[in-house]
Amino acid sequence: MKLKRMVVGLGERSYSIWIGGGILPRLSQALQEVNFPKKVAVVFNPLVQSLYGGTVAESLQSAGYEYHQIIIPDGEEHKNWTTLQKIHDGLIAYGFDRQSGLIALGGGVTGDICGFAAATFLRGIPYVQVPTTLLAQVDSSVGGKTAINHPKGKNLIGAFYQPRHVHIDVDTLQSLDAREFAAGMAEVVKYGIIRDKSFFEWLSQNREALQKRDTEALIRAVKRACQIKANIVEVDERENAQRAILNLGHTFGHAVENLSGYRTYRHGEAVAVGMVVIAHISQRLDLCSAADVVAIRQLLQAFDLPVMPPDYPIDTYLDAMMRDKKVLKGKLRLVLNRGIGDCLVREIDEPATLFAEALNNIQ
Ligand code: NAD
Ligand code: GLY
Repeated sequence: MKLKRMVVGLGERSYSIWIGGGILPRLSQALQEVNFPKKVAVVFNPLVQSLYGGTVAESLQSAGYEYHQIIIPDGEEHKNWTTLQKIHDGLIAYGFDRQSGLIALGGGVTGDICGFAAATFLRGIPYVQVPTTLLAQVDSSVGGKTAINHPKGKNLIGAFYQPRHVHIDVDTLQSLDAREFAAGMAEVVKYGIIRDKSFFEWLSQNREALQKRDTEALIRAVKRACQIKANIVEVDERENAQRAILNLGHTFGHAVENLSGYRTYRHGEAVAVGMVVIAHISQRLDLCSAADVVAIRQLLQAFDLPVMPPDYPIDTYLDAMMRDKKVLKGKLRLVLNRGIGDCLVREIDEPATLFAEALNNIQ
């Protein structure tokens, strides 16, 4: 069994990440190492429960944990107050106190809402992330952003609240459908673009192995992605500056998701489109070459991701983008790629012209 370990260094809020193939049964060992409370509730949806709930229950019960479970409905539309209350209701019914802990087993929806439940119950109880989608393994489980949605927008209610441990078994990705897998790959490619050109090239060279979901290749990709994210979070935990670079392609991507009603595009798919648009803008601003734009576009396409923006009027896109969290004092700030492997955040004076040109050039 291959196991890679790393630490997210945040002083007294530091935590371990384990990455491996077939390490789900070792969850109890990891919990013991971090002195996690002995009374736990696992939060999952019915699908993830049926796939991996048994293995986790067996690991915890055989190690003497007092095990409880809380089942939440599957889907982004349930990342809301009603589901949050369901988790809190369960914790109260099971008599949870501050010497108890939560375990999020599932994708980013489960991780975000379970993390927020942990942040808010009794003003904060410990929790652990056990991500089972690629997106959750390389992004949402690391860094401590927890949230629920408000009818007016995604992730509007939340807290920065770090987990005690992140437990990543890449074997769980075998059951993920192709579209979810591709959506997670968009975020993996993002790390190459913002921080590591050789990783970007490695992804291109190892595309086949990754798409076949070869364990070694997956461990390597997830590990590098987590390392890059951890390094960024370590210097800017609360997104005062540098953490914003994790949002490459997200401003346009969020507009695509928003305008299409959050149903047509998976988040990673919209981000893929956004990263291509940003690459064109970066080229226009002399930050990268035409060859870089082609390489970004081709790698995303090779991972079965969309790269063409849906056909909305430019003003509609601009309105949607101005609702982005990175808008400061009415000015749009964009993460732009400098070549491949580096990036910067820049305030944009003429977004209408730049985006209109980029959209024209992509056609
Ligand atoms: P998701 O949690 O909805 O999971 C996608 C689907 O895959 C669900 O139907 C789920 O039941 C299923 N699933 C989960 N694991 C599976 C497995 N191993 N095999 C088969 N099916 C499986 O979606 P997601 O893409 O994982 O996460 C998206 C969420 O993450 C959004 O709410 C987004 O806001 C959030 N997010 C948070 C952060 C952060 O930093 N906290 C970062 C990025 C995204
Ligand atoms: N997914 C962006 C962040 O964690 O900051």
